[in-house]
Order: sequence, then structure tokens, then C-alpha cells
Amino acid sequence: MTKRDIITIGIGVAVVTVLLAAPPETTPHLPGDSTHARFRAIAHEQGKKAAEKFCKNCHGKAGMEFSKDHPDPNRCLFCHKLTPQ
Ligand code: HEC
Ligand code: HEC
Repeated sequence: MTKRDIITIGIGVAVVTVLLAAPPETTPHLPGDSTHARFRAIAHEQGKKAAEKFCKNCHGKAGMEFSKDHPDPNRCLFCHKLTPQ
């Protein structure tokens, strides 16, 4: 083993440690219900941007406001993963 190998292994161990120490994901996924199923299909067929156009037809409207600590609601599917939880 050269010094370089040891450094490479050291960096690898450090990266894995950081990844394992990351907090669990808390952002809710796109729900797997019938309301959202068609957006999942659109995202798979035409891309996430095409699906995201529909989200604000409901979300953000009166009675369905975003919580006050919700981040800037754009590119929904960048944060809300498609796979149901
Ligand atoms: C037809 C209206 C409608 C549209 C369009 C819609 N949603 Fe929803 N969404 C709802 C309703 C109603 C709920 C709350 C009940 C539920 O969980 O299904 C909800 C809940 C959610 C939740 C919260 C899940 C949780 O665990 O708290 C997320 C995230 C979400 N929607 C994302 C999206 C995204 C992203 C889009 C666009 C791709 C979208 N929604 C489009 C009606 C809609
Ligand atoms: C930068 C990341 C990010 C983006 C972009 C984003 N969200 Fe969220 N969203 C979150 C996080 C984190 C939470 C959970 C924290 C909370 O409860 O506010 C959340 C929670 C939600 C909830 C649960 C109720 C609420 O308001 O907390 C809904 C519904 C939702 N998002 C819909 C959407 C829709 C629709 C879009 C696009 C118009 C969107 N989000 C864009 C990160 C994001």
C-alpha cells in the first residue's frame, strides 16, 4: 500500500461516514393516492416540469395554503420525491 492508497481509503471512509450521519429525510413524498397518481405518470412520461404545472391548481389555493415554514414552492418534485413513502 502506498501513501496515496491510504489517503484514498481515508477519504472514502470520511465520505461514507458523512452520508450515514445525514439526518433522515423528512420531506413528504408525492402521495401515492389517486389524486396524485396521474402526476406521477406525467412526470415519468413527460418529465417533472410538465407534472409540476398542475400542483398549484390545488396547493397554495384558499383552504390549501402552504404551511408558513414551507420553502419557496417552486420545482415541487425537486424536493417531493415521486416514490410513495
Ligand atoms: C386536484 C388537487 C391536487 C393537485 C393538482 C395536487 N395535489 Fe397534492 N394534495 C392534494 C390533497 C387534497 C392533499 C391532502 C390529502 C392527501 O394527502 O392526498 C395533497 C397532499 C400533498 C402532499 C402532502 C403529503 C403529506 O404527507 O403531507 C404533497 C407533498 C403533495 N400533495 C404534493 C403535490 C405535488 C408535488 C403536486 C403536483 C405534481 C400535487 N400535490 C398536485 C391535492 C392535490
Ligand atoms: C425546497 C424544497 C421544496 C420545494 C421546492 C417544495 N416543497 Fe413542499 N415541502 C417541503 C418540505 C421540507 C416540507 C415539510 C416541512 C413542512 O411541513 O413545511 C414540505 C411540505 C409540503 C406539504 C405538506 C403541507 C405543508 O405545507 O407543509 C405540501 C402539500 C407540499 N409541500 C406541497 C408542495 C408543492 C405543491 C410544491 C410545488 C408548488 C412544493 N411543495 C415545493 C419542501 C419543498
